[in-house]
Amino acid sequence: ARFQVYVTRSDMPECGIDLLKKECNVKTWKDASPVPREEFLKSIAGVDAIYCSLSDKIDEEVLDAAGPQLKVIGTISVGYDHIDLKECRKRGVKIGYTPNVLTDATAELTMALLLTTSRRLPEAQQDAKTGGWVSWAPKYMTGPGLNGATVGMVGYGRIGQAVARRVKSFNTAKILYFSRSERIEALEVGAIKVSFDELLKESDFVIVCAPLVPETKELFNKSAFEKMKRSAVFVNTSRGGLLDQDALIYALENNIIWGAGLDVTTPEPLPLDSPLFKLKNCVVLPHIGSATIGTRNTMSELTAANILAALHNAEMPAELK
Ligand code: GLV
Ligand code: GLV
Repeated sequence: ARFQVYVTRSDMPECGIDLLKKECNVKTWKDASPVPREEFLKSIAGVDAIYCSLSDKIDEEVLDAAGPQLKVIGTISVGYDHIDLKECRKRGVKIGYTPNVLTDATAELTMALLLTTSRRLPEAQQDAKTGGWVSWAPKYMTGPGLNGATVGMVGYGRIGQAVARRVKSFNTAKILYFSRSERIEALEVGAIKVSFDELLKESDFVIVCAPLVPETKELFNKSAFEKMKRSAVFVNTSRGGLLDQDALIYALENNIIWGAGLDVTTPEPLPLDSPLFKLKNCVVLPHIGSATIGTRNTMSELTAANILAALHNAEMPAELK
């Protein structure tokens, strides 16, 4: 019998879905929106594999609803905080994810967000469009620059290092990083390992590239923002859960830090009435870190390749262990 695979949305890049269809019966949620939970639970009964995204919570209830024949979860993401790893391991369900292939795209977006925030691009464009551009003015739309700055990387894995390499080309004075693990690549850009508090105190830009795990949950709380420079720019392209969002709102409203650029929020999508949307010193993007056309296609192919390998008991190209 052919393998049964469930895909949680209708608009996953075709190149990956086509790979699956060669060997599997593929059942897909009918819309280009996350599958509603009830529908998801009903639809996965008896499947061998689930192709999901970070919008789909994979927990005990899902694993129960699928049944004991379920072999693999393939998520089209590098993040895995939406998956109950312990429960998957307990049941021998393998997990495929998409590291490496999105590193450069996410690092690019991180640079874009950093510059967009520090140089106030959305505010400046809005002003130009609505008559605020009266004349050249010496203090108009000024913000902090990267040249000569100290940049602090919180999380120094693949993406953090790729950001650091790009940051360095902007003539920064110093790159600091805080990480729970020692990394040889730190030497490449001369990044200096420091404590979390030291990073907060010293950095002109604080960039978050750490995964959301129990140890990093709400790492940025009220006291963390208070330790940062008043002139600091905070950028998060990892997960909203790394910070206490209310503490960030307080810090932005009271100029405890200078500004923030967020590609990730709590919850997602961020409700339209969120104070973050009203703050001039905050740029919010709708979780588009890996969103280059090529990267999303490669992510879809890798997700399919992970699933197919697991179904054939072969080594998966990117298994989360
Ligand atoms: C995106 O946030 C990802 O985890 O791939
Ligand atoms: C995160 O997992 C990364 O690739 O840095």
